[in-house]
Amino acid sequence: MKLAIGSDHAGYEMKEEIKKYLEEKGYEVKDYGTNSTESCDYPEFGEKVGRAVASGECEEGVLVCGTGIGISLAANKVKGIRAAVCSEPVSARLAKQHNNANIIAFGARIVGMEEAKGIVDAFLSAEFLGGRHEKRVNMISDIENRG
Ligand code: RB5
Repeated sequence: MKLAIGSDHAGYEMKEEIKKYLEEKGYEVKDYGTNSTESCDYPEFGEKVGRAVASGECEEGVLVCGTGIGISLAANKVKGIRAAVCSEPVSARLAKQHNNANIIAFGARIVGMEEAKGIVDAFLSAEFLGGRHEKRVNMISDIENRG
């Protein structure tokens, strides 16, 4: 599976560690930056990862900023993106199972490295359950399509 990953400066170190972790697990990971701890603007990287996933270039995405909030808000402005901010693995699993999230986001200032790995594992190993959840996810897309 090909994954897109991105962060701002606050998430840079965690993004690097998670990228390595995912590559060691056999995922192909495309890194959309940032590339240092120098201050930068999270919307740029949220949008890049969002577009990579929405276009199909990457199947799913991982985003990290200080809280996970700003970068996921930016990604969610890209049509077709459902980016979920999670601080623990149960929500990450349910974000996929119920909400068909295609990007997982978390905060490097909020969660520790082991928790972050657990969040990513829970998200990537879960599958969308469809059924009653499908109708609700389609309702979210309808909102997007109505503009
Ligand atoms: C950067 O200081 C910080 O605002 C950013 O990483 C993020 O937490 C925004 O939501």
